[in-house]
Amino acid sequence: MKLKSCSFQYGILIDVVAYDNIVLLIKPNECMRAIVTIIVGIVFGFFIGVSFPAFAPSKLKLIPPIDTYLGDKNSGRSTQTILNVISVTRDNVSTDAQNIDDPSLIYVPSNPRGAERLPPAIVASESDFFPRRLFGRPSEDLTFKPKYLVTFTVGYNQKDNIDQAVKKFSDNFTVLLFHYDGRTTEWNEFEWSKRAIHISVPKQTKWWYAKRFLHPDIVAPYDFIFVWDEDLGVENFDAEEYIKLVKKHKLEISQPGLDPSSKGLTWQMTKRREDLQVHKETEEKPGWCSDPHLPPCAAFVEIMAPVFSREAWRCVWYLIQNDLVHGWGLDFALRKCIEPAYEKIGVVDAQWITHQGVPSLGNQGREENGKAPWEGVRERCKSEWKMFQDRVAKAERDYFKSVGVGSTDNEANWVTPDRIQ
Ligand SMILES: *[C@@H]1O[C@H](CO)[C@@H](O)[C@H](O)[C@H]1NC(C)=O
Ligand SMILES: *[C@@H]1O[C@H](CO)[C@@H](O)[C@H](O)[C@H]1NC(C)=O
Repeated sequence: MKLKSCSFQYGILIDVVAYDNIVLLIKPNECMRAIVTIIVGIVFGFFIGVSFPAFAPSKLKLIPPIDTYLGDKNSGRSTQTILNVISVTRDNVSTDAQNIDDPSLIYVPSNPRGAERLPPAIVASESDFFPRRLFGRPSEDLTFKPKYLVTFTVGYNQKDNIDQAVKKFSDNFTVLLFHYDGRTTEWNEFEWSKRAIHISVPKQTKWWYAKRFLHPDIVAPYDFIFVWDEDLGVENFDAEEYIKLVKKHKLEISQPGLDPSSKGLTWQMTKRREDLQVHKETEEKPGWCSDPHLPPCAAFVEIMAPVFSREAWRCVWYLIQNDLVHGWGLDFALRKCIEPAYEKIGVVDAQWITHQGVPSLGNQGREENGKAPWEGVRERCKSEWKMFQDRVAKAERDYFKSVGVGSTDNEANWVTPDRIQ
């Protein structure tokens, strides 16, 4: 009779017990203790099963009844905790179990996203710009692999300047031209043009092209990536020598020094120093640098002629926004990709360039409200800068808030309000 009342209170449990033929061994006054023991046993057994999946191939079928009846039995806090653990764990278990149960299905979580169903050995996660033949053995296509990449965003009007610039880059460079004026075949007057890669999309900016065509997995073969404007004077520049200095001084992001005669020389940091090979910091106008290790006094190059190591580019590509096409403000954020930025971002003084400031793409805007085309472009540049800055600040704030930590970045007040007591 007592067993029956027991059964009334713990109906579902007794079913389990009876099923296992244990019910006959239970003395009525030990009913409660037995039930507790059984619960503990089942939960313990469940976790053993989860911990050693290979020994419990049928665990999936066991899990639903366990949390169902625990839920029925008890609404206490500890049970809820157990339930949470079980339900979360079960999500993970079921993914694993799917594969254990069906070894004919491939699922490799460490594969690139979306390619989990492929055997890892067939996954080609990176590519390149190396042209290949249409015949013969693929393994014999490439007699030589360039080690560096240089890109110029060009209009045909700048062809002579680009011709001079390209000649400063050895055969170790792949040359990639982004054409913003739709003229590509005209470039074939230059011998090097036949070896170059030409990408033509009308009226787009350097950073628009870079985001679309320089994915880190595509440019992965190159040790260094030059993302350059078309209006740079390169008389005093040699790319191989430049790379030597960048390697010697361990610069992950760099640019050649700008000759003081350059147009629109805004920052002291990028001005060429005659007494140095390389510099990584500078002094600015009073009040411009809150910290000598931060832009624009250090950890800073401009966006007209940056050079990235492969690793730095892998981060910077993600920093480039799809809609902020002018890239203004990006120079201030580059440091977020490098640690410590004030040591690994610098300006190469011994190989230097001049900025000619030729208005080119800047004139490709549209006349609006009586303003010249270039004014509209200029306005957009400035507003993009502000938008980019705001986005970075907000993203950092959100992140630090989500992990419950105040930012250590001293550039702005990124301490979350809820941390201030
Ligand atoms: C489930 O798996 C994910 C990915 O492996 C892991 O991050 C998460 O912590 C796991 N959850 C539990 C409760 O084990
Ligand atoms: C290309 O790179 C190799 C290896 O660094 C170097 O020996 C060679 O001189 C470079 N070619 C040119 C034209 O500088």
